[in-house]
Amino acid sequence: MDFKLAIGQKILDALKATLGDPGMTDVQIASALEVPPDTAMGDFAFPCFKLSKALRKPPAMISDALAGAIQADFLSKVDSVKGYLNFFIDRATFAEKILRAAAEQGERYGSDNSGAGKTVVLDYSSINIAKRFHIGHLSTTAIGSALYKLYKFFGWNAIGVNHLGDWGTQFGKMIAAYKRWGDHDTVARGGVDEMVKLYVRFNEEAKADPALNDEGRAWFKRIEDGDPEALEIFNWFKSVTLKDAERVYDMLGVTFDSYAGESFYNDKMQPVIDELKAKGLLKEDQGAQIVDLEPYGMPPALILRSDGATLYITRDLAAAKYRKDTYNFDKSLYVVAYQQNLHFRQLFKVLELMGYDWAKDCEHVAFGMVSYEGQALSTREGHVIYLDDLLNNAIQKARSIIDEKSPDLENKDEVARQIGVGAVVFFALYNNRIKDIDFWWDRALNFDGETGPYVMYTHARCCSVLAKAGEMDAEPDFAALSDADAQEVVRLIGQFPETAKSALERNEPSLITRFTVDLSQAYNKFYYDQKIMVDDLPTRAARVLLTKVTRDLLRTAMHLIGLNPPERM
Ligand code: ARG
Repeated sequence: MDFKLAIGQKILDALKATLGDPGMTDVQIASALEVPPDTAMGDFAFPCFKLSKALRKPPAMISDALAGAIQADFLSKVDSVKGYLNFFIDRATFAEKILRAAAEQGERYGSDNSGAGKTVVLDYSSINIAKRFHIGHLSTTAIGSALYKLYKFFGWNAIGVNHLGDWGTQFGKMIAAYKRWGDHDTVARGGVDEMVKLYVRFNEEAKADPALNDEGRAWFKRIEDGDPEALEIFNWFKSVTLKDAERVYDMLGVTFDSYAGESFYNDKMQPVIDELKAKGLLKEDQGAQIVDLEPYGMPPALILRSDGATLYITRDLAAAKYRKDTYNFDKSLYVVAYQQNLHFRQLFKVLELMGYDWAKDCEHVAFGMVSYEGQALSTREGHVIYLDDLLNNAIQKARSIIDEKSPDLENKDEVARQIGVGAVVFFALYNNRIKDIDFWWDRALNFDGETGPYVMYTHARCCSVLAKAGEMDAEPDFAALSDADAQEVVRLIGQFPETAKSALERNEPSLITRFTVDLSQAYNKFYYDQKIMVDDLPTRAARVLLTKVTRDLLRTAMHLIGLNPPERM
């Protein structure tokens, strides 16, 4: 049952019977309902000033008139307080309606089919070849993957794209270095680190011997021209990088439907350039080709350099078109740090100038910067944390806690992995995405307070209560859930559909992360204050049902943000 809508209908009926037509529908009234910060002020409140204008009456008068005119079996009381109508839901009815709805809908509770028939393309993670996966790419990976799951939850057809950074002159230099000093086995064994070493050496030696740079450029040209040897080495570098990254993706449970990266668009840019020209958008500027964005208060979009080389945005233009043609998306999201704000504003503007009305369906889902102990990340200076080190550290820590506290646990390794990885992912998704993250080891590895392990622990606690309770035959007595602790848990469960919806609409997975903490805290309070295994079976059945719905919902919510909670820990 949708209490908000039901209340909206009651308010509308009462208005029509007393003060007259408010010029609002029941749905509009329902969506103006607020949830008071304190349950002592009711479960829902309607601010009557929203009707003042239409009814030409002061809010307090409206709320006084309506309070006496509204009655329903699901309402225990309606109060008029300073222009607000406060609604008190009958607690037993409240608990029954919400828990039954949640139990019935199971894993689907909180979702709806609003995404049916719609497609969303999500560009996330989008790592760069020949670089080791470090915490700078953790946010895009965690946020993007959570959104991917969230869109699917709401029935969207979601396409995850890893827009690999696999294009640029540095790859020519890397091949040149490999041909001079590298050998197959060393790179095959050492992976990305070996490739980086070659690259660093190349740059050092090129200082003394600038002719090396020509060699690098020549190799890059060979990649561009499709020379088989160059391509073979380059593709091999790519597969070595991806193999490293896939280990991390596997640990995180992150998947993609496409790995079409920058180089994929090599042969798809010319048509876009021709089109820009045909539409009169290209302008020559000191030998380069640009799209002038001055009228829109932006620097020009550089499409072709004077030497004819294409740029990042040229490939993104081709990619955007390709995605529209291939997937016919309703929405196309780019989960990329806010440093690239200008790039995406330019990209979307050029698409719009090209006459594509779907440019409005493209959105930059920006997130904050990651620093490490107060300083900018720098691979060159070694001031960086690699993701697999971070994950392995977290797993280690989980493992030593398990060894100490639950030495008899089965599959300790698996559980340690679930907890450790969960702690890291949760850390990445805890704050509003636009906030900068300063990474500190002790914060990322904190298992107390508002953390992934805490939520997982609550889930495991519910599992153990349920195991102890076994099958319950008794009909639950929902009046037994009238206490403030149980009511708070019920209220949060009832709020999940809205929370999930806003997370989707705002592309903000942190709303789900916070929800898991709120629900855990409420349940733990209930758990400490109320006895569950009481003799009265209907009371017990009600408290066990509350536990079951909490457990299932914690699991659903954790799955959405990419956590995989163990049943015991
Ligand atoms: N590879 C880029 C980086 O690491 C991100 C690419 C984002 N996606 C895009 N279509 N531009 O900064």
